[in-house]
Amino acid sequence: MTNGKEQNKALSPESAKARIAALAKMLNEHNYKYYVLDAPQISDYEFDMLLEELMLLEHAYPEYKTDDSPTLRVGGAITQKFEAIQHETPFLSLSNSYSREDLVEFDQRIRKAVGDDFSYVCELKFDGAAIGAKYLNGKLSMAFTRGDGAQGDIITNNIKTIRSIPLNLNGNFPANFEIRGEVFMPFKSFERINKTREEELLESGYNEEEIAERLFKNPRNAASGSLKMQDPAEVSARGLDCFFYALMGNDLPAQSHYENLQIAKLWGFKISEHIQQSKSLNEVFAYIDHWEQARYKLPFDIDGIVIKVNEYERQRQLGFTAKSPRWAIAFKYKAQSAITVLQKITYQVGRTGAITPVANLKPVSLAGTTVKRASLYNADFIEKMDIREGDTVFVEKGGEIIPKVTAVDTSKRDLFSVPHQYASQCPECGSELIRKQGEALHYCPNEDACPPQVIGKIVHFITRKAMNIDSLGEKTIELLYREGLINNYADLFELKFEQVLNLEGFKQLSSSNVIKGIEASREIPFERVLYALGIRYVGETVAKKLAKHFENIDNLTLANREALLEVAEIGEVIADSVLDFFSREHNRQMIDALKNAGLKFSIDRSKNKMASDKLKDKSFVVSGVFSLFSRDELKNLIEVHGGKVLSGVSAKTDFLLAGEKMGPEKLKKAEKLNVKIISESDFQQMIN
Ligand code: IVH
Repeated sequence: MTNGKEQNKALSPESAKARIAALAKMLNEHNYKYYVLDAPQISDYEFDMLLEELMLLEHAYPEYKTDDSPTLRVGGAITQKFEAIQHETPFLSLSNSYSREDLVEFDQRIRKAVGDDFSYVCELKFDGAAIGAKYLNGKLSMAFTRGDGAQGDIITNNIKTIRSIPLNLNGNFPANFEIRGEVFMPFKSFERINKTREEELLESGYNEEEIAERLFKNPRNAASGSLKMQDPAEVSARGLDCFFYALMGNDLPAQSHYENLQIAKLWGFKISEHIQQSKSLNEVFAYIDHWEQARYKLPFDIDGIVIKVNEYERQRQLGFTAKSPRWAIAFKYKAQSAITVLQKITYQVGRTGAITPVANLKPVSLAGTTVKRASLYNADFIEKMDIREGDTVFVEKGGEIIPKVTAVDTSKRDLFSVPHQYASQCPECGSELIRKQGEALHYCPNEDACPPQVIGKIVHFITRKAMNIDSLGEKTIELLYREGLINNYADLFELKFEQVLNLEGFKQLSSSNVIKGIEASREIPFERVLYALGIRYVGETVAKKLAKHFENIDNLTLANREALLEVAEIGEVIADSVLDFFSREHNRQMIDALKNAGLKFSIDRSKNKMASDKLKDKSFVVSGVFSLFSRDELKNLIEVHGGKVLSGVSAKTDFLLAGEKMGPEKLKKAEKLNVKIISESDFQQMIN
């Protein structure tokens, strides 16, 4: 079988050009059906196959790649610095209203100014980041953020990754117009991204408090943060979406907002189906009432309703204030709150030993779900709010997903109630809790024997990126631990087939799979074993760096602070954590046990076959976008030819391997330090 590249070479340039155009058209149509109409016609697999074919062809014939290629949905040129753009029409904001009285006033003002001959359009107020996009002759030519309203940033390549935003239009569209909308992150993407982040941080040893600081607080922050990332491939992975809500231009097809949006839908834009034309304020109220509860069934966040005068002529008559149009208003729902009784304060022990207090509530219905628990964050929060068991409390669900206790109704407090005494002992193992200076959380220091901490470490040890023992899962680990068969990850290698077979739910085959899975993990390379040990702050990448630098566990165990700090990108926090890990007798014993079990504790030189030593003692910084190789391929080539890859330009750098669109700062620095700047083809010559 020939591979794709060979097949592509066999195509004549004309047929390649035609096939690229045909594939692009097909893929754009399928994209539209999937992401805008929500009615896919082909399977994900078929779609991916077509996309891959197009990618290969574009790689072989870059001259035929167009700027509306569907391959841009998965990535594109890195943006080093976002260019600013002055908006042709300022991005105004909306004035807010919070009550029906506010809306009655709004309605009266309008009637006074233009009479009764107009209608309203009610829309959802999507909670994300505003963007504008210009289309020239049916093609997306430029997209930008709102910025400060007068001036925004050009983010075209990032916007092209949002699959529901058309790159080219169908039908009878004006040659030149702008459309505005809201980029948002659906809950599904938000949860996925935060979950992945949380896992990565947890596996690198961050505690719950540090993780909470690093997670996105709500989908809005996640959406706006994502739009300003430099690498479109990363934006693509964020799973953003966009609803458009306003058109502007001199030759729009209709004279009203509603009609224009419906026509824009035919051109390929994603326009919300929940737009309602309303003749009277009462119909507006009905819309507001409906969405007050129905909004919790939406797969994305809204932060209210927008009410707009539909007819452009009336809009013009009404005009603008300095900040917002007089023909539109936002109606914000009050944060949903409920009153209930806090029955008990309990404590959760995390994998890192961090203690989180939890309010166990008398179940209450709030924002479409039944709430039974709310986070109480830490001891300070409870003390500041004087929250006590038995209190009547207000719980709220704001932009954040987890409900919180916002206030206590002290008038309902029992006469004999006393301030809450924060736990002093671990609820799992009884150890005395500690609180380090400057930290908000209490910890259980018993990391080698406190059940959730021990189980957490073993679960981390078996995960895919670590020892990859997929015949074991969290449930089995818990079972093995509770049955007293394992007390740490080294004990896994002592497990006997019969012991597993005796466990509830295990048969011959499943038991033998468990043992085989553990056996097979003995082949896992050193860097992953190192990661599996669960040293705080030693994630996958750091483990790789340490393994490569020290080559075996003995060197690493003996390394002092200075030696650790010499490793590129290892800072003080990581160095101290590594030192602390190896200083502990328990950890050294486990490493000995793992060594005896036959795990790999040194790098496998035979796997790292060197191609040559042409680049021996030479150090490189790779920056920008390349056409022959990817950045990772180049870094790998440097290493297999004996060279060293550095992350930043310094006096120690020999070469700056510069691609397109590389950072001007790096270039400047390289010139200043007399670092030789070479191109991709210069580099090819060096290794050939
Ligand atoms: S119309 C001139 N419609 O709300 C009025 N805005 O303060 C232009 N937003 O950040 C706004 N959904 O991006 C309009 N259906 C909708 C909207 C909406 C969300 C955002 C908008 C801006 C803010 C206005």
